[in-house]
Amino acid sequence: MAKNAAQQIVADDELDELIDGLKQTEKMISPKYFYDERGSQLFEEITRLPEYYPTETELGIMRDNIDEIAALAGKQASLIEYGSGSSLKTRVLLQHLDELAAYVPVDISEDHLLESARSVREEFPDIDVLPVVADFTQPFQLPSPKVMPVRNIVYFPGSTIGNFTNEAAQELLQVMYHEAGADGALLIGVDLQKDPAIIERAYNDSAGVTAEFNRNMLRHLNREFGADFDLDAFTHSAEYNEEEGRIEIRLVSEQDQEFNLGHASFSIGKDEAILTEYSHKYTLDGFAAMAETAGFSVERVWMDAERLFSVQYLVRD
Ligand code: AVJ
Repeated sequence: MAKNAAQQIVADDELDELIDGLKQTEKMISPKYFYDERGSQLFEEITRLPEYYPTETELGIMRDNIDEIAALAGKQASLIEYGSGSSLKTRVLLQHLDELAAYVPVDISEDHLLESARSVREEFPDIDVLPVVADFTQPFQLPSPKVMPVRNIVYFPGSTIGNFTNEAAQELLQVMYHEAGADGALLIGVDLQKDPAIIERAYNDSAGVTAEFNRNMLRHLNREFGADFDLDAFTHSAEYNEEEGRIEIRLVSEQDQEFNLGHASFSIGKDEAILTEYSHKYTLDGFAAMAETAGFSVERVWMDAERLFSVQYLVRD
């Protein structure tokens, strides 16, 4: 599809950012490029894999504790979800929060956002659904619901926070703090440190879906940015870095090769890698310390029996 002038500017900025990442000492591509249409489908598939514990565990925590979550949220809150929110977890909240003033999903991908807003409206005709197209890492203007909200509750599920470096995660928590406003709260899914074998299995599934998800990023860049990556010449790698407490996902080059992106040419050696994602895992103390630097304090933590994952309710100090 032809791009309009504004989309062209965004695409040029993205191309500059991509080229810049590939010029770093360790080549890198932002994980946001995972999510073209096929990438989103592959991620859906990942969430259903037996090895990928986060999605099901988080949903279980939400279901088991929804009465307490609803009591903390109180009546007439506005629920602001970072991400387009078509998940079962969101639906648990929409079903149980009391007299919601509004549901505000925020996402950069307009198509995905409007489609999921439409299906939420269909299922919850009494809820004021006010989608916002925005990059949620930057401050954005909240819409005004028909009913004045008692408080804003920012919802950030899935441990998506883990994609950010600690520094960027702190900045994002600060943006959420301001977005939540006085009396606001943050309800956030946070994956926990545990036996590295369990974590590595979740990112190296036996069906190879995660490997395909990783390689699909190159297919996406070939299509959208006219790159010429040879998909078959890269291998998926996901290793847990214990010191940093994170999974590090890479595409490893199987041979010396060249590729082009925009007007830039790159060479990559055999066994050299492109970093495509960090997924940080936290200790309860480590996450609380990070939240505190952004002005939040941890009011409540819910976990599954095995302590694989946590859902946390943070309030402003
Ligand atoms: C969507 C960022 C939460 O880090 O577990 C899953 C993405 N990457 N398998 C995660 C992902 C590979 C996922 N997040």
